[in-house]
Amino acid sequence: MADCQGDGVEGATPMELYEKLTAQGEKVRSLKTAKADKAEVDAAIQLLLKLKVDYKGATSQDYKAGCPPSESAVLSNNGQSGNGAEEDTVDPWNVATNSAKGVDYDKLIVRFGSSKVDQELVDRIEKVSGQKAHRFLRRGIFFSHRDMHQVLDAYEKQKSFYLYTGRGPSSQAMHVGHLIPFIFTKWLQDMFDIPLVVQLTDDEKYLWKDLTLEDCHRFAVENAKDIIACGFDVNKTFIFSDLDYMGSSPEFYRNVVKIQKHVTFNQVKGIFGFSDSDCIGKISFPAIQAAPSFSSSFPQIFKGRKDVQCLIPCAIDQDPYFRMTRDVAPRIGYLKPALLHSTFFPALQGAQTKMSASDANSSIFLTDTPKQIKNKVNKHAFSGGKDTIEEHRELGGNPDIDVSFMYLTFFMEDDEQLEKIRQDYASGALLTGELKKMLIETLQPMITAHQENRKNVTDEQVKQFMTPRPLKFNF
Ligand code: TRP
Repeated sequence: MADCQGDGVEGATPMELYEKLTAQGEKVRSLKTAKADKAEVDAAIQLLLKLKVDYKGATSQDYKAGCPPSESAVLSNNGQSGNGAEEDTVDPWNVATNSAKGVDYDKLIVRFGSSKVDQELVDRIEKVSGQKAHRFLRRGIFFSHRDMHQVLDAYEKQKSFYLYTGRGPSSQAMHVGHLIPFIFTKWLQDMFDIPLVVQLTDDEKYLWKDLTLEDCHRFAVENAKDIIACGFDVNKTFIFSDLDYMGSSPEFYRNVVKIQKHVTFNQVKGIFGFSDSDCIGKISFPAIQAAPSFSSSFPQIFKGRKDVQCLIPCAIDQDPYFRMTRDVAPRIGYLKPALLHSTFFPALQGAQTKMSASDANSSIFLTDTPKQIKNKVNKHAFSGGKDTIEEHRELGGNPDIDVSFMYLTFFMEDDEQLEKIRQDYASGALLTGELKKMLIETLQPMITAHQENRKNVTDEQVKQFMTPRPLKFNF
C-alpha cells in the first residue's frame, strides 16, 4: 500500500510538497489518458490524496493546481505536519473534529484505504444507468467507495447485484440525517432495479444502550415505517429486525457462525477498540452486521445462490464493520461486498460533529412541525455570516462553515440555484436571515410530505415488508 511509509514527504517544505503534488497530479492524468491498469491508477490517486493531506497539514491550505503555497499560510502552521495530534475521530460510535468545515474526508479515504468517488466514476454511473447522477453523487456527499467499478463492470455484462443498508433503532425519533442513506438507496434501487435488504439492528442497540429488548424491537418496527415512507417498493425490499430474523433463518445464522469462526478477538479489538471488559455480545455483534453482505443469508430472495454481489450504501462511520466483512469474505468462499460511503449530516450547531438523536436542539426531527423547523433553523443553525449587516455586506459570509448552506447542499435539487446562493452568500449580497429562510422553505414541505407518507403506512404493510418472502426477481 502506498500509505505505509516512506513517500519522502517527512520534513519536506511546503514548496517541495507543492511540486510533488503537481507532479503526482500530472502522473494521474497521464495514466488515465493512457488507460493504464486500474490498480496502477488507483495507487497513483491514493498517493495524490495522501500528498494533499500532507500539504494541508503543512500549510493549512487546500492544494490548488497553479497556486503555490503563500508565505503567510506556510508560516501560520510553522510548517508542521498536520498528521499528528489532531486526527478526526470517526468510528461507529463517535464522530468528532476540531474543524468547523467538518471532517477532512480526503484524509479519511487515505486512512481507511478506500477510493474517492471521482468525476470519472460519477460519469460512469450516469452512462450505465442512463440517468443524471443523484445530487448526493454530484456534490460529493457519497464521496468514497470500494469496488464500484467492479460492480458496474459486472452490471454491464448483465450480472445483477443487490443493495444492503441498515439502521440502528435506538429511539422512535429519527432526524433528517438518518434519511440520507435511504434517500440514496431508493435512487439506486430505482436506477438498477435490484433487490434491497434493510437490517434493523435492534440487538445492537440492546447491547450498547440502556434499553430493554422490547423497546429496541418496538423502535425497529417504528423506524421501519419511516424507511417505508421513503417510497420503497414492497416487491423489491425486505426489511428485517435482527431479533426476529436471526431466530427464523437457519441460513442467516449459519453465515453468522462462519464469520465468527474466522475473526479473532484480536482483530475486532484492533478494528473496534473493544476491551476485555466489554460484554461478549458486543464482541460477536460485528458478525451479525456482516452476514447480510452475503446473498446466501437470504435464500428466499436469492434461491440459495451465494454469488450475488452486494453493494452497501452507508455513512463512512460504518466502514469498520465492512472492512472486517471484506477481510473474511474470501476465507469463507464469498464475494466481498462493494461500498458507497457518505459524509455525515452535520449537527445544527456546526460540522464538528454529526446530528445526534439524543439532543433535541441539534437535529431536525422527522416529527417536527413547520414552526419547530423554522425556530430551530433560526435559533440554532450555526452561521458563517458576519456579526452585523454592514460587515456582512462588505466582507461576505463563509458558506463552507455555514450549516444552513450545508443543509441546502443535501436537499436543494437545482445545481445552478445552489451555486448562485453560494456566490451571493460569499459576496455578501445574501444575508444569513435570507439564507435561513431558503433552508426553512426547503425543509418544511419535505418533512410535511414525509409525515404524510408515514401516516399512510399501515401495520399490514409493515408486516409485509418484514416477512421473509421471495421478491419479484428471478435468481
Ligand atoms: N450499525 C448501524 C447503526 O447503528 C446499522 C446498520 C446495520 C447498518 N447494517 C447496516 C448501516 C448496513 C448501514 C449499512 O446505525
